[in-house]
Amino acid sequence: MKFKFSEVARYAEENPSSIREIMGIVTEYRKHPEKFPRKLIYLGGGWPQDPPPAGLRETAVELLSNVDSFNTSARYGTTRGEPEVFQAIIEYEKRLLGRSIDEDYLIFGLGSSDLIGAFMLACLDKGSEVILTSPGYLNYRRQLEIEGLLSFSIKYWPILEESRFRPDVEKLKELITDKTRMIIITTPGNPDGQVYDDETLNAVSNIAEDHGIWLMVDVAYRFFLFTDYPKYFSRPVRDHEIWVCTFSKELRIPGWRAAYAVANPELIKMVNNIQQGRVLCPSRLVEEILARYLSREETYKELKEFYAEGVKKYKRAAEFSEQLLKEIPGIKTLTPRGGFYVFFDITAYSNDSKKTCRELLDQWQVALAPGVDFALDGWIRLSYAPTVEDLNVVKEGVERMKKYFESLKK
Ligand SMILES: Cc1ncc(COP(=O)(O)O)c(C=O)c1O
Repeated sequence: MKFKFSEVARYAEENPSSIREIMGIVTEYRKHPEKFPRKLIYLGGGWPQDPPPAGLRETAVELLSNVDSFNTSARYGTTRGEPEVFQAIIEYEKRLLGRSIDEDYLIFGLGSSDLIGAFMLACLDKGSEVILTSPGYLNYRRQLEIEGLLSFSIKYWPILEESRFRPDVEKLKELITDKTRMIIITTPGNPDGQVYDDETLNAVSNIAEDHGIWLMVDVAYRFFLFTDYPKYFSRPVRDHEIWVCTFSKELRIPGWRAAYAVANPELIKMVNNIQQGRVLCPSRLVEEILARYLSREETYKELKEFYAEGVKKYKRAAEFSEQLLKEIPGIKTLTPRGGFYVFFDITAYSNDSKKTCRELLDQWQVALAPGVDFALDGWIRLSYAPTVEDLNVVKEGVERMKKYFESLKK
């Protein structure tokens, strides 16, 4: 064809994530379930299946049924976010986490993916180096490739040792050069479900500060914590830190695309300039609904219960799933401390997580996510998020996995 695609588009096409290939088969299953011998058990994606809080729906209905507020919500908003949504977020942070935030420190976005991309553009130049964790959330890499037109280099900080969560800050220091501009960490982690303690997170932050490096902390799963709350969730944000907070998981609204970041006002201003050329503004309708919902007194009673129930439900699913996985001989699990996932070591059977996931899907119709996508092969991620309302699904899935692994031994 005489019309050319960009280098980055060709790269993305030629280097799909393994999950994308697996999703292709899942889509095929959804279209033609009759072609497959068993019902698909989907333990692949990190999507909450339980509904958002009822009060949020009621607020949306109320807003949409008022002509004036409906009309206002259809207009463009300001790029950084509406002042009402900032006031509501300030209240939300104060009431639920005890953190005080100034409005100047906030920017609202179309999900955290949007904001993460914008911060990358504000903080990185061609040739900049970024340190991600191994394992770590797969989309950071893809976003770095796209936003940097393949010009950023990525280094990995191994945070597991002997199949345990042992982030060693000395090893992190060894990766730093004068080109390092950003470190990204996730707590609770995806795919590992681990939670940094205060000492380690603050040590990482000090190292970043000493070297003039931005530290991005992604707390997508902060309201799914199965241990005590580390203090960093409530402490003020330091000048070189970017805290990315999404409503996708905590309010169960991933399809609404709503998130905010907390960072120093100068950086926020820079990101705002970039967003003017990128998205113009977040979804005004979503902002209006959240602003109303999060500024109501009764919301906080509802949310406290909703989050406490959520933790119970997700913790139960985490424990149940991990226990079942442990019953498969040779499988080593990382005990989830929060989030949606059990990450487990399959090296007793194979070092090839992509092949194992392909075979589990082809032969047993169980969909999982291969560790290779999360920068750690020989491991697999099981998401219990789709099964929190019905643990029989995960039970059936792991029973099939057990049969598959038994068949490998023979
Ligand atoms: C760690 C982490 N960060 C960010 C995201 C993306 O979230 P959002 O819906 O806010 O773009 C996800 C989604 O799974 C995630 O797991």
